[in-house]
Amino acid sequence: MATASAARAKAPAKKKDAVQVAAPSRREFLFYIWGASMALLAGETVAGLFFFLLPRFRAGTFGGVFTVSGEDVPPIGADPVNEPAGRFWMSNTEQGYLSLFQVCTHLGCLPKWVPTNNRFECPCHGSKFEATGKYIEGPAPRSLDRFPTTIIFEDGTTVTTNSAGDPVPLNGKRILKIEVDTGNRIRRPGREL
Ligand code: FES
Repeated sequence: MATASAARAKAPAKKKDAVQVAAPSRREFLFYIWGASMALLAGETVAGLFFFLLPRFRAGTFGGVFTVSGEDVPPIGADPVNEPAGRFWMSNTEQGYLSLFQVCTHLGCLPKWVPTNNRFECPCHGSKFEATGKYIEGPAPRSLDRFPTTIIFEDGTTVTTNSAGDPVPLNGKRILKIEVDTGNRIRRPGREL
């Protein structure tokens, strides 16, 4: 008896505070999988929305900024020059330089520059516009829209069109290059310049 009592006394005492960690049940496991799937789906949705809303216009494509050498800008009073990829006319008038959106403000046709008449004429319904884009006649409800333009001169100075897109006077300075922002069209309010 004494021997058995001694053996019991030597046996390690059971730890009363030991934490019993049970393996997750099948139901819990499925719940974790479902939660991870939902989190992944939500992440993909947010990422897709983010990239969808990001502006995707690159320089040199319509909607982005076009850089044109000063050599390609027409002299004052010369015929406007077409930039088809950017959908704008470079027009250098006595009032200053403008980048005109090529699309007619009536129903969206493309007016052509007619040198003999010194004006833009729309082939669809006959609207006509001056070299500044100002409305002359026809059903167009307003003058031609414009694009904001930054002009970089050879002397290192720059000038940018104001919010109305008014012609930029060149004051006899030579243009190094221009930057035309086709992503921010300036809508003309009416038929007046
Ligand atoms: S679309 Fe130009 S006049 Fe109608």
